[in-house]
Amino acid sequence: MVAPTISDSDLKLACWDLKKSIYFTRGEHEYSSPRAPLDALGDPSFCLDHGLRYPYVAGAMANGIASEELVIAMANAGMLGIFGAAGLDVSRVEAAMVRLTKALAGLPFGSNLIHSPNEPHTEEAIVDLYLKHGVKLVEASAFMGLTSAVVRYRVTGIYRTNTGVIVAPNRIIAKISRMEVASKFMAPPPVAMLQDLVKRGVISAEQAQWAAQIPMAQDVTAEADSGGHTDNRPAITLLPLMLALKDRLSEQYGYEVPIRVGAAGGIATPLAAAGAFAMGAAFIVTGTINQACLEAGTSDTVRAMLADAGQADIAMAPAADMFEMGVKVQVLKRGTMFAMRAQKLYDLYIKHASWEEIPAAERDVVEKNFLKQSFKDAWISTKSFFASRDPKQNVRAETDAKHKMALVFRSYLGQSSRWANAGEPTRKVDYQIWCGPAMGAFNEWAKGSFLEAAKERRAVPVALNLLYGAAVCLRVQTLRHQGLSVPSSWQNWRPLPELELRSMIERNPS
Ligand SMILES: Cc1cc2nc3c(=O)[nH]c(=O)nc-3n(C[C@H](O)[C@H](O)[C@H](O)COP(=O)(O)O)c2cc1C
Repeated sequence: MVAPTISDSDLKLACWDLKKSIYFTRGEHEYSSPRAPLDALGDPSFCLDHGLRYPYVAGAMANGIASEELVIAMANAGMLGIFGAAGLDVSRVEAAMVRLTKALAGLPFGSNLIHSPNEPHTEEAIVDLYLKHGVKLVEASAFMGLTSAVVRYRVTGIYRTNTGVIVAPNRIIAKISRMEVASKFMAPPPVAMLQDLVKRGVISAEQAQWAAQIPMAQDVTAEADSGGHTDNRPAITLLPLMLALKDRLSEQYGYEVPIRVGAAGGIATPLAAAGAFAMGAAFIVTGTINQACLEAGTSDTVRAMLADAGQADIAMAPAADMFEMGVKVQVLKRGTMFAMRAQKLYDLYIKHASWEEIPAAERDVVEKNFLKQSFKDAWISTKSFFASRDPKQNVRAETDAKHKMALVFRSYLGQSSRWANAGEPTRKVDYQIWCGPAMGAFNEWAKGSFLEAAKERRAVPVALNLLYGAAVCLRVQTLRHQGLSVPSSWQNWRPLPELELRSMIERNPS
């Protein structure tokens, strides 16, 4: 039996106008394409609670790569941008919070609260800063468990209304790839930590009781294989597991408002976004593709390198922030030797008790090609960096030669992402560019469209194309499920220029 077909032009009529339901017949059968407004994608309560128009989040990107410009652009388009606070001095983050609060005048935005096992005081200082400036939403990430800082942020200022509703003004979107960590963020804050906050006078005993009835994070992002820190989990398995966990825990704790789960990792095309929403994601989060956009706080050289990347042009490399723990980050491999060099430094660190113990020939290579200075000179600049950032590290390095070696290696790793952001021409082979397989998928999708050129990539048109394309792809799928044979071009929505796209989105039903 041959499936009834639908022509290009009829399909366009049936799917383009998202606000209009369409009914038609083919032979003996009736088909329908129900309206599917763009702002109804995901869980509508996510947009309602956060004051957004679309369930789309541009996730944090460290060192201000997720810049103020990116956050402002997203907010003005009814989406959520998270400032990339990780790796920045507290004073730089403070300047960003002041600027964003002023520029956005009440429009929603968030900032990153990254777990810093090496620098717990930084985590506390960032929380102090967010509380001081009334930052009401953080994206919490890289946590392996709850810390006193993240709990303090969540419960500060909690109150109960006259009608008995418990309100925690500080919200957390927790980005997580492990189930055991997700369980902690989906649970209420631990009683012992709350009692400690009561003892310290941060909250009252009554506030602690209220806090024990709400989840640490109302929203959890299931982060699959992504750029930067990642466990490389496949989205197609991680998201259903996280959704099942939130159902179980929402029921177990009897929350009045169920937890929501969003999806991140690999979302770079309308089909990927459609897949995430079809699986039940309340919202979607992108990262890698935003670094390739003009608003990102990086260099044009990096944008051009990203525009050339294919899906396999990525590698895992040791991370600067959790180097000694063996944690890795996903980076661009094409056009830079960073991944290889960082791995070499990690191998040397694991194998040797001190810099001096490394064979002379290997030390030569590291000094000449990686550090481009003697280890001694590299230690002088490393020491002065830590003197202001975290002096305890220097004290420990004085008696612990292995730690001293780690600090110098971490300093190279840290600088390598700054060289990339600044487009430092003499250090191109050392560029550390966090990047996931999403980049290759995006480049392939953008090929031949206005988004192919790096200089045309802007975060809002990219996001709107993903959302609109996802809605069209989902609609096309409903027709396929009714037994229609659909031209394959329609299952792969191509990018539309912003003006055309906006007119499609704003279009009213006739
Ligand atoms: C350049 C870059 C830097 C990132 N830095 C951070 C960060 O500092 N904090 C964080 O929570 N996530 C960070 N991420 C992760 C993103 O916020 C986002 O969750 C992730 O990129 C989504 O997956 P994708 O890369 O496949 O789009 C970074 C991602 C990239 C590409």
